[in-house]
Amino acid sequence: MTAILPLERHFARVGAPVGGVFTERNLFPWIQRRTRPLEDGPAAAARLLAERRPGKRVAYLHVPFCANHCLFCGFYRNRSAEDAMAEYASRLERDIAMDETAAGGPPIQAVYFGGGTPSALSADDLHRLVSAVRRHLPLAPDCEITIEGRVAGFGDDKIDACLEAGANRFSIGVQTFDTGLRQRMGRKASRQETISFMERLRDRDRAVVVCDLILGLPGQDMETWRNDVATCLSLGLDGVDLYCLTLHDKSPLALSIAKGSLPPAAGLERMAAMYGAGLEMLEDAGWRHLNQAHWASATRERNLYNQLVKAGADCLAFGAGAGGLVQGHRYVIQPDIDLYGKAVDSGTKPVTVVLPPPANRQARDLVMGGLEGGRLDIARLESLTAPGLAATLEPLLAQWAAAGLIRRRANAIILTTAGWFWHCNLVGSLFELIDLSMGGGTPPADLSSPQPQGIRHAG
Ligand SMILES: C[S@@+](CC[C@H](N)C(=O)[O-])C[C@H]1O[C@@H](n2cnc3c(N)ncnc32)[C@H](O)[C@@H]1O
Ligand code: SF4
Repeated sequence: MTAILPLERHFARVGAPVGGVFTERNLFPWIQRRTRPLEDGPAAAARLLAERRPGKRVAYLHVPFCANHCLFCGFYRNRSAEDAMAEYASRLERDIAMDETAAGGPPIQAVYFGGGTPSALSADDLHRLVSAVRRHLPLAPDCEITIEGRVAGFGDDKIDACLEAGANRFSIGVQTFDTGLRQRMGRKASRQETISFMERLRDRDRAVVVCDLILGLPGQDMETWRNDVATCLSLGLDGVDLYCLTLHDKSPLALSIAKGSLPPAAGLERMAAMYGAGLEMLEDAGWRHLNQAHWASATRERNLYNQLVKAGADCLAFGAGAGGLVQGHRYVIQPDIDLYGKAVDSGTKPVTVVLPPPANRQARDLVMGGLEGGRLDIARLESLTAPGLAATLEPLLAQWAAAGLIRRRANAIILTTAGWFWHCNLVGSLFELIDLSMGGGTPPADLSSPQPQGIRHAG
């Protein structure tokens, strides 16, 4: 039997507009803020990585360089400089090559070069890194190999180098097609340059092409937003991410808004309306909704890396600041590029912090992976937690249904448009209730565990 759970504090507002169903977005429910890192973390990670266990695996390679700090972004670390990037690429190649444990074990289903800006690397470095991954890691025959990039500085020579080495997916950060807004956010290419770039990439027809758009930027009204989604639709891409703006404290964007040089970012109501409008436009155009923030137009787009990571697959991490996951243990590679380089030069993988898995990992993975895809099997959740959980949760689920967040289907809940928008809150609530139902008790104070790169923002 499950304990009596404090369901009311997770209730939504019935009858409120979508943006007012909860008072704030629970942005990163999966970050284990209250978990103490393992004392023997690096040794524990090494042991776990060396174990051979069946299961899906992916790999993340981090490239922490950018030409400039875009105002909204929380991922910026180092300004790109040719020498530093070339040196870093050599270290990253060595990091991949020296990882003997990665070579064993089940196939790797997806590889993601993320950043920062992988497309800031030279054509030669992109070629040798993709080649190194293919040479040293046991990739599945249909492995998805994604290169993340931006339009400025991603020349044809670099694209050719990626394709020749075997990359088969490009994820391009467009953010908005509006030239004025782009410039205000620190993006260098104009609308026309961005469109031409995406068309050239599409016309090669040798890889999946997806783009990221952000909604809720200061000065981005509904018309600009609809125009962004319509432009994306007109380009014949394979997929798109629609990300709600996260306004990071102390980001250049937050500071510009605070001093009045930019208008405020969208509030919850405008954000919800924009998300809903984007979702409707993509649905009307026949795109498939794969994850909370991701849609695909073509069958060749699988969005595999993101899907597997969100469902708790093991993720091998390479590069300064990369975040990995092994048997539910999150680990972080040394983020300082000099310290990272020194460790790799001496033949050591510089794992810094390792967090133990949450107590109810399987149930959490089911909630996270399920709701990312818009559906959660409550009977299966009960089988992974405590008998009686479904009945205990019933008043909450009925309340969420009344508030328009979910629909009920036999043993499952299905997200509505409002539910997709608030999906992180629903995940956070279920995480908390599962912990309590399994005797987790009141959680201790926030220990501010690190947020690895590689597992994305809230969507
Ligand atoms: C790690 S970033 C790398 C993108 C790439 N370097 C670029 O400049 O296009 C991946 C994506 O995160 C999204 N992103 C970054 N900051 C964000 C924020 N504050 N709120 C929402 N999405 C954000 C952007 O859509 C971006 O394309
Ligand atoms: S959006 Fe891309 S280029 Fe801009 S700061 Fe973030 S990671 Fe760097």
